[in-house]
Amino acid sequence: IRINPLRPVILAAAGSDRMKRTITKVPATAAVVKRFVAGETRAELLPVVRELLAGGRTVSVDFLGEYTTERGMADAAVTEYLALIGELAALDRTLPDSASTVPRVEVSLKLSALGQFLGADGPAIAAENLHKLCAKAAESQVWVTVDAEDHTTTEETVAAVREMRSEFPWLGLAVQTYLRDAVARCRDLSAEGTRIRLCKGAYQEPETVAYRKRAEVDASYLECLDVIMRGDGYPMVATHDPAMLDAGLRESAEKYRGPGDFEFQMLYGIRDAEQRRLVGEGQALRVYVPYGGQWYGYLMRRLAERPANVGFFLRALTER
Ligand code: FDA
Repeated sequence: IRINPLRPVILAAAGSDRMKRTITKVPATAAVVKRFVAGETRAELLPVVRELLAGGRTVSVDFLGEYTTERGMADAAVTEYLALIGELAALDRTLPDSASTVPRVEVSLKLSALGQFLGADGPAIAAENLHKLCAKAAESQVWVTVDAEDHTTTEETVAAVREMRSEFPWLGLAVQTYLRDAVARCRDLSAEGTRIRLCKGAYQEPETVAYRKRAEVDASYLECLDVIMRGDGYPMVATHDPAMLDAGLRESAEKYRGPGDFEFQMLYGIRDAEQRRLVGEGQALRVYVPYGGQWYGYLMRRLAERPANVGFFLRALTER
């Protein structure tokens, strides 16, 4: 079985400017965006984060944006992240201490938003920007994890994170299990002690580099999970899939890992009741919370994941 019959169509639309203009203009889109995105500004984001933290969840906040083609936009993303890290750290300090032995606040970022695609100097610009943000995060006791984007960026992204980890060993990286080399990647990175966010992968990839069948992506996830749970890094099990969650619980018990040694992660607006249930059972759970005006690509990837999400979108379009 393929993952979702509509997936290629929706992911193709994710790259279409025309579709973006159309969808952004539909008034009902706002209701759908609101379900998955915590707001367009920091002022809208912060109360959402406060509530999640107060309820015992931890957060990873993503300022939306990707595939930046202008230097000014990359600079603006850095400015926003610097302010964000400061404000999240300040908010965290206002809340009572939690049982969490790891930072409650993390930011997630995409190197393509920090300038990776700005011509020949792009990778160096993105690395310099990543360094600035890691330095600020270190002084604020906030974690950083780098998102995994499409496969053309993987090698450069992994290299940038590897290099940065000599100075900031807590820097994390997402690994997508649909990639055929995911298990080998997990083996290498976890032997180095990297914090790995294991996710299935959300982009449209060619069969040469990625598994297309759901069973293969899931089998790869389980194998990667075993590797990172055995390894020396900090596993972040990012999924909403009951089978993967069960495997996470089983593997962590077998390998004597608990809160502080590993965590589950889910996306804001997805399986909220399950998130709360896991926290109620004493599991560490971090919510990936996106905010900002550049929500189009993110929204389309969420819609592509699940036919039910498309149904939700279509219903919202017809609701008044
Ligand atoms: P999948 O979509 O395969 O669904 C499996 C099953 O889970 C479903 O059949 C259903 O039972 C259940 N389920 C899923 N959604 C549900 C819902 N809304 N309600 C009820 N049940 C539901 N991707 C990427 O390429 N790069 C990245 O950096 C990241 N980062 C990231 C961070 C975090 C914290 C998460 C959770 C995810 C990502 N992703 C990502 C996205 C990831 O790669 C993947 O596309 C989605 O998480 C969807 O895959 P799942 O493992 O959730 O299950």
